Amino acid sequence: MGKNKLKKFADMSTFRCALQYPREVLLKEGFPYVGKWHEDFFGNEGGITLELGCGKGEYTVALAKSNPARNYIGVDIKGARMWSGAKEVEETGIGNAAFLRAEIENIDKFFAPGEVDEIWITFPDPQMQKTRKRLTSVRFLQMYGKFLKPGGVINLKTDSPFLYEYTRRLAELNGFEMLVNTDDLYGSGMADPVSSIKTYYESQWLSRGKKIKLLSMRVPDFSNLQEPDSSDIEKDDYRAYPRHTVQPQNVSSPDL
Ligand SMILES: C[S@@+](CC[C@H](N)C(=O)[O-])C[C@H]1O[C@@H](n2cnc3c(N)ncnc32)[C@H](O)[C@@H]1O
Repeated sequence: MGKNKLKKFADMSTFRCALQYPREVLLKEGFPYVGKWHEDFFGNEGGITLELGCGKGEYTVALAKSNPARNYIGVDIKGARMWSGAKEVEETGIGNAAFLRAEIENIDKFFAPGEVDEIWITFPDPQMQKTRKRLTSVRFLQMYGKFLKPGGVINLKTDSPFLYEYTRRLAELNGFEMLVNTDDLYGSGMADPVSSIKTYYESQWLSRGKKIKLLSMRVPDFSNLQEPDSSDIEKDDYRAYPRHTVQPQNVSSPDL
């Protein structure tokens, strides 16, 4: 492992805002703040928003700065990525943000029923081959339902036409209440100061001319959710190439 990464891991272990609970630690120690995030961690009664797969944590930090009355928790398995956000939180003394190093597959072990009132899923891998791995699949939604407040909002921000269409179909099939549904956030006039916060991956996709999609939805009932048929949704061909690559000659996407 490079020196830089080791330094970041060492820093993370000293940051109060960084809680590190990958599976093996979770199994060994359990998690101390379940049902106690307000009382024992944040020290206030403000609502809690999660950012799942937060990467460097741009959303978590920007939201925490813009709304000190609420609390924000970025979740990712990559500690060295979250270091950027966690360092800013430590250095600027932001008291309403935290970073949790954990697998999203275990996210229901970290919160009590009703403890979270909003979720942002920012630019996840669309997992075009495996439905179960998609962060908006029934499997994950059922997990979120264990700790999301009734009426809580789930937001998906993505560059992926595939993941957008899959999630839109799932929402329609299961009667979700749609608060925002756009396949071109910045061209639609629907962007607001919160939805306009840009993550690292978002900036990369925007620089390649990709349109950003946003779905904000309420799930009225997390029991008996059904998977939509996604077999006919066109796969995102541009994802086969590194983000910095210029359009390959044999791919004819008008969007690239
Ligand atoms: C494509 S990146 C997006 C990062 C950030 N949201 C952004 O927009 O810049 C996806 C992130 O999800 C994290 N991730 C993927 N699967 C995960 C899992 N099962 N548990 C925790 N984090 C995960 C990765 O480590 C990565 O940082």
